Amino acid sequence: MAKTASEELIFHKKAFQEALLRWYHTHARVLPWRIEPTLYKTVLSEFMLQQTQIKTALPYFHRWVDELPTFEALSKATPEKVLKLWEGLGYYTRARNIHKLAKALVAMPQIPKTPEAWLELPGVGPYTTAAITSISFKEPLACVDGNVVRILSRLTANSREFTDSATASKYFAPLGQALVNTDNPGDHNQAMMELGATVCHRRSPECLLCPVKNFCKGTKENPENFPKLTQKKIEKKEIYRIWCIKDGNILLHKATAKAKRLSGIHELPTQDQVGISESDLKASDLIVKKVRTITRFQMVESIYRLSRVKKKLKPDLVWVPLNKLSTVILSGPHKRWIEELA
Ligand code: ADE
Repeated sequence: MAKTASEELIFHKKAFQEALLRWYHTHARVLPWRIEPTLYKTVLSEFMLQQTQIKTALPYFHRWVDELPTFEALSKATPEKVLKLWEGLGYYTRARNIHKLAKALVAMPQIPKTPEAWLELPGVGPYTTAAITSISFKEPLACVDGNVVRILSRLTANSREFTDSATASKYFAPLGQALVNTDNPGDHNQAMMELGATVCHRRSPECLLCPVKNFCKGTKENPENFPKLTQKKIEKKEIYRIWCIKDGNILLHKATAKAKRLSGIHELPTQDQVGISESDLKASDLIVKKVRTITRFQMVESIYRLSRVKKKLKPDLVWVPLNKLSTVILSGPHKRWIEELA
């Protein structure tokens, strides 16, 4: 019986792995967590890269390692220090989790080495476990993120439709696992990610430069057709925000501990937070409209200038001197907006 595309690829696994690693060892970008890797640098890079591109994460990575060079140092840092170092990277739960992780690790008699033990640690899911234990402990576990799904679906020209990337990752996990180079799983995983980031782009992949094009069915068709993901319906969200400055202080909302994701982070307050009616707000001066897309939401944020607000404000609203903004933690977009408008 004829082999399926996956069986064919697995049949040629050795040659595939060699071509991939040879390319990685000559073409991989020189990144700070790849030069003299340590467990700490590997863990930090994997946390930072969970939702962030390498070029965005790099300056944060350098600053972080300068200020908090070890798990020990991180474990002793204040939550404010940790959040300040993460300020602008977004998805702040990652910062809180790596802080918890450092505290858990320094409290252990020895650093765990098995995937089972890492999975139990704060903020460490199956993907991060595979990345950390393959790179640091040679555990033969495949990392199957969006980049890798793209490569695997193209290699096998698989036109199955997936409702979301998590389902696609689950589907391709066995193939990813079957292809892992057990002699060097860390470099194999990083090579797959590197190929996805630098050659096998979502749009206009550079197949001519690809080290594994001879193994790829998708390149013979239109590689952009793979993977096939159901188009998400974009939902529009209107948000009204307040710009209010009084005696050199700007009014900000500081999320409380209850607001898990943004806890401790300052933003321009919304109309609701300030307790002003929509009609009053719309009678004031619209300064700017900012549009950004987060997952399936298109957020349209209109910022209105108010000359004054109620005297008695809710406790999560704070006046911050404009010349002391660097002492509080601002979310990335709000930091940019304030710098632009102030
Ligand atoms: N994305 C997540 N981890 C990565 C790594 N180690 N190299 C490149 N991209 C990554």
